[in-house]
Amino acid sequence: MYESIAVVGATGAVGSIVLELLDKRNFPYKTIKFLASKRSAGKTIIFKGQSHTVEESTPEAFVGVQLAIASTPDETARDLLPDAVKRGTLVIDESGYWRMDPDVPLVVPEINAAAAKNAPKGIISSPNCSTTQLVMAVKPLHDYGKAKRIVVSTYQAVSGAGMLGTADLENGIRAIAEGREQTVECFPYPIAGNCIPQIGSPKEQGYTSEELKLLYETRKILGDDSIKVCPTAVRVPVVNCHSESILVETERKITVSKARELFAAMPGVVVQDDLDNRGQGQYPMPYFCSGRDEVFIGRIREDLSCDTGLAFWCVCDNLRKGAATNAVQIAEYLQYGA
Ligand code: A2P
Repeated sequence: MYESIAVVGATGAVGSIVLELLDKRNFPYKTIKFLASKRSAGKTIIFKGQSHTVEESTPEAFVGVQLAIASTPDETARDLLPDAVKRGTLVIDESGYWRMDPDVPLVVPEINAAAAKNAPKGIISSPNCSTTQLVMAVKPLHDYGKAKRIVVSTYQAVSGAGMLGTADLENGIRAIAEGREQTVECFPYPIAGNCIPQIGSPKEQGYTSEELKLLYETRKILGDDSIKVCPTAVRVPVVNCHSESILVETERKITVSKARELFAAMPGVVVQDDLDNRGQGQYPMPYFCSGRDEVFIGRIREDLSCDTGLAFWCVCDNLRKGAATNAVQIAEYLQYGA
């Protein structure tokens, strides 16, 4: 059992779910600290019925902390985590900053849990939310038929942009209802009644940073640099849960019934796939997947444009399996093993 653990970014959208999961899943520890930015220092968090004071995430705050789960902006992870590691803390990091470092394992426990044991930098990364659900879906197909090429379009909820993203949507809906102009704090454009085809910053060949995560993180987690990925990431006016339209071209043909079987056997995946269910199709939808820890798959069909292609729809709570749940599962693996 860990003597002392810390939740860094405990006041944030993901951090608050990490707390909920540590409680619900009875994660074992003796003492726990709640860290956030200077702005939150002194605030109170109620955890397991007791009130705790939030501390500023200074390097000294990590003295004596054996394990930290960190959900902060990238720059905070860049600046703070090496100081935490120097003080003996092993960090599970949800930020994007360390993921592609060759000395930092990028872990989805259902796929490559054992990689978490080899963390020479003292940091274990949890993938980007949109990558996690993609690799959870592609892994069983890849194992069976070797994925050659993936085309993925994401429909990403505002909660993925943190508390400010959610506030932009709520304020935007209110503004539309009251006939006012929307003001935005988080997104580059109004998000209510809109779709924004840019998440992250512009990168090479016209792709965004979010889209390239879907390429590079997928290759790293699946351990196969030959997989080709063509990603499009779009922010949509959905409160929570990312959806993805995924097309996978494999070396070995996978029929729809075989794909259903493969998905159903993948731990953490739930198949909801009945388009013609007495007039009301069954398929995953973000509204209904919120608060769930699984990855949901439906609309499974053969790709009409390619002999060995499979198309499907995939929904996952980006704050849970896409972030907090995955990080807590890594912590549980370190604690209990497989
Ligand atoms: P705070 O609430 O004090 O700003 P979200 O993704 O919902 O915006 O949450 C981000 C989390 O990261 C929050 O808990 C936030 O704390 C925390 N955070 C932001 N900047 C820092 C920082 N410089 N040091 C430590 N934690 C930070």
